[in-house]
Amino acid sequence: MLSAPNPVSEGAIPAHTPDVANGKIMYNAAGCFSCHKPGPELKDADQSLPAGGMALKTPVGVFYPPNLTPDPETGIGKWTDLEFVNAVQRGLSPEGQHLIPAFPYTSYARMKTEDVLDIRAYLATLQPVVSPEKPAEIPAPWLLRRGVGLWKHLGLDTTPWQPDPAQSASWNRGAYIANAPGHCNECHTPRNVFMVPDMSRQFAGGPHPEGQGKVPSLRDLVGRGKYKDAADLTLAFQNGEMLGYENMSSGGMGAVQTNLSKLPQADVEALADYIVSLK
Ligand code: HEC
Ligand code: HEC
Repeated sequence: MLSAPNPVSEGAIPAHTPDVANGKIMYNAAGCFSCHKPGPELKDADQSLPAGGMALKTPVGVFYPPNLTPDPETGIGKWTDLEFVNAVQRGLSPEGQHLIPAFPYTSYARMKTEDVLDIRAYLATLQPVVSPEKPAEIPAPWLLRRGVGLWKHLGLDTTPWQPDPAQSASWNRGAYIANAPGHCNECHTPRNVFMVPDMSRQFAGGPHPEGQGKVPSLRDLVGRGKYKDAADLTLAFQNGEMLGYENMSSGGMGAVQTNLSKLPQADVEALADYIVSLK
């Protein structure tokens, strides 16, 4: 069937000793918390935990991204690694449902699976929170999920991100962060008529995917006088509005900037190196 799920198979999960410290870096680079925040009913829980339940408005309806803490009943405590990888890299729930691409698995599909397993290992170290899943407010769930399954044939490229041997190690690290966990394309690359990011216009900016105005271009930021150099952009990623960098606060970018500020210095510099190289 054309909309059949295309899961990762057990044999494709690499043998890997999880690295929790790397998992935390990847969790921040991927911005998991930005969407999986605790909802208003969890006001007594630790607000830094990704317990889920905060409303996320999307063009197809309101979703409540679920609990990522290790609670066995309402969180992902009982999930297998394979189920986790299939959710994050294929947009498939353990029940085989197609998850909507507002969950940016189309970018996470390009991550190294080891990095995804490390996120899982980091999440397993968090305190479990009881936070039952809340159903999405969408008109025709079955039809929508089937439609997503069809769309994946166009919009889900599962080739892992490939380094460019002509570029430096730092540039390649930045390119990986931007294009795989960081999912910068989801907002900064305009979409074609099939709602697939148009890579011929990569990072050219365009309408906001959630309908909140426009997203700026990331091309030629230095030539256009937006930032002096990569070091200036590094400071902007680390500090945002706090240091007077005004163009990183609205339309979801504020949350991205907060996440970037938690990355190791070398990773933020690598990301800035890559972004200023975009012509
Ligand atoms: C831009 C918002 C956004 C980001 C960022 C995000 N998610 Fe989600 N996530 C969602 C939404 C929305 C859903 C529910 C999708 C649906 O029901 O179709 C979801 C669903 C999930 C599910 C599936 C749960 C289930 O019961 O099937 C898992 C697991 C998950 N996310 C993990 C993660 C991890 C890990 C990260 C970071 C690597 C992450 N998410 C980043 C929005 C997001
Ligand atoms: C949820 C959508 C979204 C995502 C994901 C996102 N951005 Fe943004 N970004 C925006 C919006 C909207 C703005 C404009 C914000 C403003 O003017 O306050 C912006 C602004 C920026 C700017 C400032 C541009 C200028 O002209 O000064 C940079 C640089 C930037 N983003 C880089 C990134 C990078 C790198 C990533 C990935 C790590 C990323 N963004 C991910 C939406 C997003």
